[in-house]
Amino acid sequence: MQASQSQHSPILRTLSGETMTPPPLWMMRQAGRYLPEYRALRAEAGSFLDLCYTPSLATEVTLQPIRQFGFDAAILFSDILVVPHALGQDLWFVEGEGPRLKPVATTKDLAALREDLDPEKVGAVLETVSRVRAALPRETALLGFCGAPWTVATYMVAGRGTPDQAPALDLAARDPVLFRAIIDRLVAQSTRYLVSQLQAGADAVQIFDSWAGALISDEALYRRWCLEPIARIVDGVRAEVPGARIIGFPKGSGPFYPLFAGESGVDAVGLDQGLGLDQARAVQAIRPVQGNLSPEVLLSGGTALDQAIDLILEALGGRPHIFNLGHGILPQTPIPHVERLVKRVRGGLG
Ligand code: CP3
Repeated sequence: MQASQSQHSPILRTLSGETMTPPPLWMMRQAGRYLPEYRALRAEAGSFLDLCYTPSLATEVTLQPIRQFGFDAAILFSDILVVPHALGQDLWFVEGEGPRLKPVATTKDLAALREDLDPEKVGAVLETVSRVRAALPRETALLGFCGAPWTVATYMVAGRGTPDQAPALDLAARDPVLFRAIIDRLVAQSTRYLVSQLQAGADAVQIFDSWAGALISDEALYRRWCLEPIARIVDGVRAEVPGARIIGFPKGSGPFYPLFAGESGVDAVGLDQGLGLDQARAVQAIRPVQGNLSPEVLLSGGTALDQAIDLILEALGGRPHIFNLGHGILPQTPIPHVERLVKRVRGGLG
């Protein structure tokens, strides 16, 4: 990252602890099925994974929401499951259902995977990163990302998304040595993956722990599988890229959000919509925050949307805040609702 870029990007300034008014804005899953031009390119690519691994198409899809809405950040178009895929685990997406992987259930299954990431798959992603950076306006930050070890492991172990992450919780309890080995492989490879994205041109990275909420019944569990692996990645990335900007999104952390903000080492904490605004402010007293409009409220639109936006701007204004959703935008969301959101956030409170 060039120094001049950092100065011109509201997202990077916020990550450095500056308060911007109005706050910078982007949306998780901003490149995706709610956009007709995404659906068209997706149809052209054939499969979702082909789209992820074809730099010309992935670049185009990453840029679509920037052109249309002028968000302050672009997020690399890819998927968190590219990491297990690049470790050699079979991965495919079932239309209308979601990801499927050949489950890792035994030490033998883990031993059959690679130690490091397939350079061909990673190379395609890094090519996308550098193409996107070259095409973006200087003030627009490019975010790379990876899944957190816990969340990625839930998919690797179950072979699919699960409502309660029971297969991974169960393996962690039954065979902690194997589960630890899976997490350790993911910590090491996710660190290298993020470093390479930063070196290819990403200005900051986000670590998605979408299923952290499955660990909050017990602080020791939360520390062991959510907080510590992420803190190790943060340290490892900064050892290679000093000053690397990192956002952590431990979705569903509830009462453990302040612990995460204080101990993970991230520059900003992504908040889900389940967190009340008083609690959000308590996290913000520790670190800049990102979030946390409900994707359902954005889907509904109207005055309820306006009110929800205003409440967030009011509660989190005056300290460093990146406006975002509390989770990914829903595919059925009407475009005019997104336009309304952008206008209202940028217009500030009347
Ligand atoms: O945010 C962005 O615009 C960048 C791209 C991105 C995608 N997935 C594209 C995608 C990012 C950052 C992700 C992260 C991701 N992927 C997470 C963590 C965040 C979260 O949503 O909790 C997880 C858990 C995954 C795994 C995954 N990928 C699932 C469970 C699914 C199926 C559900 C769904 O929404 O279809 C995917 C597919 C996926 N990833 C799509 C997109 C645009 C839909 C693919 C399609 O076009 O059919």
